Amino acid sequence: MTVTPTGTHISGVLHERRRFEPPEQFAARARLHAEQLAALHERARQDYLGFWRELAVSQLNWHKPFSITLDEREAPNYRWFCDGELNVSHECLDVQIIAGRGEKAAIRFEAETGEVRRISYRELYLQVCQLANALKSLGVRAGDRVVIYLPLVPEAIVAMQACARIGAIHSVVFGGFSALALRERIADAGACLVITADGGRRAGQIVQLKAAVDSALAERCESVRNVIVLRHAGNPIPMQADRDLWWQPLCEAQSPRCEPQWVPAEHPLFLLHTSGSTGRPKGIQHSSAGYLLNVKLTCQWVFDLREEDVFWCTADVGWVTGHSYVCYGPLANGATIVMYEGAPTYPDGGRFWKICQDHGVTILYTAPTAIRALMRLGDEIPARYDLSSLRLLGSVGEPINPEAWMWYHRVIGGGRCPIVDTWWQTETGAIMISPVPGVTATKPGSCTLPLPGVFADILDEAGEPVRRPEAGGYLVITKPWPSLARTIWGDNERYLNTYWRRFDGRCYLAGDGAYRDQDGYFWIVGRIDDVLNVSGHRLGTMEIESALVAHVRVAEAAVVGRPHEIKGEGILAFVVCRGARPGDADVDAIAQELRDWVAAQLSPIARPDEIRFADALPKTRSGKIMRRLLRAIGRNEPLTQDVSTLENPGIVAQLRGERAAGTP
Ligand code: WT7
Repeated sequence: MTVTPTGTHISGVLHERRRFEPPEQFAARARLHAEQLAALHERARQDYLGFWRELAVSQLNWHKPFSITLDEREAPNYRWFCDGELNVSHECLDVQIIAGRGEKAAIRFEAETGEVRRISYRELYLQVCQLANALKSLGVRAGDRVVIYLPLVPEAIVAMQACARIGAIHSVVFGGFSALALRERIADAGACLVITADGGRRAGQIVQLKAAVDSALAERCESVRNVIVLRHAGNPIPMQADRDLWWQPLCEAQSPRCEPQWVPAEHPLFLLHTSGSTGRPKGIQHSSAGYLLNVKLTCQWVFDLREEDVFWCTADVGWVTGHSYVCYGPLANGATIVMYEGAPTYPDGGRFWKICQDHGVTILYTAPTAIRALMRLGDEIPARYDLSSLRLLGSVGEPINPEAWMWYHRVIGGGRCPIVDTWWQTETGAIMISPVPGVTATKPGSCTLPLPGVFADILDEAGEPVRRPEAGGYLVITKPWPSLARTIWGDNERYLNTYWRRFDGRCYLAGDGAYRDQDGYFWIVGRIDDVLNVSGHRLGTMEIESALVAHVRVAEAAVVGRPHEIKGEGILAFVVCRGARPGDADVDAIAQELRDWVAAQLSPIARPDEIRFADALPKTRSGKIMRRLLRAIGRNEPLTQDVSTLENPGIVAQLRGERAAGTP
């Protein structure tokens, strides 16, 4: 049987009028006060380049100072601080130890089993140096790509930082991705080495990571010479003698010191694959200095991050949030982070709150989907834990519905913690639009205002700014910023087409629809392209469709999103099968098979909630699938589309499920 979500709409966003001033107690101690924030905005408006130049000088430790702030010669392929040199791992480790934080906890790790590890900056430095030396001993050089496929354990940070230390470019693949998705990313990056673990732990189960690597490497990954395997879950795995090495003995044999490799500011720090509306996932390429500058600053501005804070960003390092606000931003600020390997509801729905209590978390940064899932379990569960250490809450990844916002505020934050709803993307590298917690009044569901140095606007079809409050348009950024993605790995044309050409190279197209209210606050409406946001994870409808048609039974498939109570957006697939017809006795079994197939091909995240079978898909006479129509059908909305151009008008009733389809 297929699970059919109830699909309530994200409610009330348009009519939300509640407003929360920064709590006085918070504002009094905040790093940024109203005057300082205003001064930053003013400075950025008056002298954009001077603004970024000063911050880059004061925030980063340059091995070789830069003289060029912004090189626009190849715009929109912008280059920032390009004649300077530094090393990102040096900023996150050596600089912190020199500042006296050697014995301070860099990471407080909790495994799903409950095991806790405290890792000081000095210990982290040692582990990073040893792995960096191990990578060098295996012939990894600056500019080489290393794929990291690990559970959310401290070694994932060690691996990323070790790459950064020697100038290797890491490409982290989320451990929830299948072997096929992994293979595609390894091949696209042309990686020379993969770092993985025997297995990961999730909800009491073992995720077979090494097995997935073996299967990925069986084809099309000739570039990979070695696999480093962390012993973690203890599950038995085969090792390939000429290729695989155990992490622990390999690292123990290495020198505890590794001089950082100084790299130019523009040297790629990492690639991270993300979904677009067409084609294969794109390898978003980030720089070293510009990226670090924005992630470091936003930790201070948005999270008010301070020496005594315990910062917990719940994201996996497989997503950009885990890069910017687990691995790089907090460590560049010398903060203590919390990492938790397992599921939020294991062994019960109190796990998140227990972690906040046990580790004294002061800043919690998580996703609306997690908030909604935990909210559903009731107020009694969080009430069992002491959450008084929390002082600031953050949200990211998708619009947060006012109901979840209010619950987060009242039940988790005890009414005293500001909420920062942070809008940004894999491509922006760091937070762009967000409240500054001691200054900005918040409204549930709005990410409020752009940060200093971020020039956001909303444009209409013709590229004119939309001035009328509440009128929607395309969200754009009109000036480049340091942590902007530099290109798509191996496909700069696609980079230019996707982000810059819509408005003649003048501004960055985010791919989101948005509007502003009377106060100029931004409200994100959702993607304007064929990208879904399922539990805060980006999925291209095309990717799911390709996975479906790769199944022998499937002739054609079209995938649309529709509101889902927990996941934000759920996945509905319309499928034309070879052999099977709507109404056949075994359609439920086939639907189940196809859902599992997509999960195995791509990731369990991509598993469709519902499959609807049809004899054909609605197409225009020119053969284009009418997605808007399918979306309306998926949402049970009245159809406003002109169906007269449909090649096969009779199909609509069937797609609506009026004639038997693949769901009960
Ligand atoms: C897309 C980017 C940002 C890191 C995690 C996701 C949506 C992100 C918000 C927010 C409304 C949001 C947008 C954006 N999104 N944050 N606060 N409010 N929508 O990164 O996978 O690159 O996805 O997530 O649609 O375009 P990503």
